[in-house]
Amino acid sequence: MDLSLELFPRHPKGLRLKNPIIAASGTFGYGNEYADMVDATRLGAIVCKGTTLEPRPGNPQPRLLETPSGLLNSIGLQNIGVGAVIRDKAPLWATWPVPVIVNIAGETVDEFGELARRLDGVPGVAAIEVNISCPNVQRGAQEFGADPEQAALVARAVRDATSLPVIVKLTPNVGDIVAVARAVAGSGADALTLTNTLRGMAIDTKRKRPVLGGITGGLSGPALKPVAVAMVYSVYKAVDVPLIGCGGIYTASDALEFLMAGARAVEIGSASILNPDAAVRVIDGLGQWLIEQRVTAVTEIVGIAQGEDRSGVAFYEHH
Ligand SMILES: Cc1cc2nc3c(=O)[nH]c(=O)nc-3n(C[C@H](O)[C@H](O)[C@H](O)COP(=O)(O)O)c2cc1C
Repeated sequence: MDLSLELFPRHPKGLRLKNPIIAASGTFGYGNEYADMVDATRLGAIVCKGTTLEPRPGNPQPRLLETPSGLLNSIGLQNIGVGAVIRDKAPLWATWPVPVIVNIAGETVDEFGELARRLDGVPGVAAIEVNISCPNVQRGAQEFGADPEQAALVARAVRDATSLPVIVKLTPNVGDIVAVARAVAGSGADALTLTNTLRGMAIDTKRKRPVLGGITGGLSGPALKPVAVAMVYSVYKAVDVPLIGCGGIYTASDALEFLMAGARAVEIGSASILNPDAAVRVIDGLGQWLIEQRVTAVTEIVGIAQGEDRSGVAFYEHH
């Protein structure tokens, strides 16, 4: 039974993962914080906290709220800044047997390019994941990822600034995810992550005010899973770059849904906040399932739920 895979088959350097389970950005710190609680070296890869050019203090408290089926967060990209990542974290990562992918966030297209340029060639950095769910300050704070053209500009700026593999992480807060995926894949992305959190909010009825310090937040966890699975299923037919599924994965069965829909790998976020061991349990469960089903390689099940139908069921034609 073989859990390994090549994450970037079209990139000259590529990146071999020992299994398809990746720790999602913002839920596993810089990797080292969890060292006492879980054997992080078991993971296929780790994506670090979203990184900006300058350190950021993040949003006012409260920042995290439990809902009946997931988490609402408004962390506001609190992070140590790219300089400290390169100086203090990357040298550590270079000694680890698990690849670390740096998640980046900018306020302008140029900032994304600058972040990628700074990280290019830094030992310990295996790839870049581009978070296009952040507000574009030059466009009235609309998310970069909400507009195919803006999303493509970011992907191109990062592609041109680095020789590292580039993953673009899409936002689900869009009307037509396929259009954004096509634009980004056509602008040099080596893989796409689907998806980031859904925008949401909660009101404190006693105070008659929004609960979260950031007012709105991102919904993750079980409520997000069907949305993200549908997006993976639809985008799989439309682009020829690998997809990484993300949203509400708590168990091996959740991960299998994404793989069968068309994801080559998956990221685990909120589940690790609840239980740092969650991702390792998913790896074990996935291995067990493959043995029981007599599947020799995990790559054999990628996209298997698509069946023979490659005609491209339109994403919003299900009503
Ligand atoms: C507390 C928290 C912080 C997050 N920070 C980031 C971040 O910095 N960059 C990013 O791209 N995604 C961030 N995310 C989104 C996750 O990486 C993931 O895409 C999302 O939570 C959906 O997966 P899940 O349902 O498994 O949590 C964050 C999520 C949470 C819950």
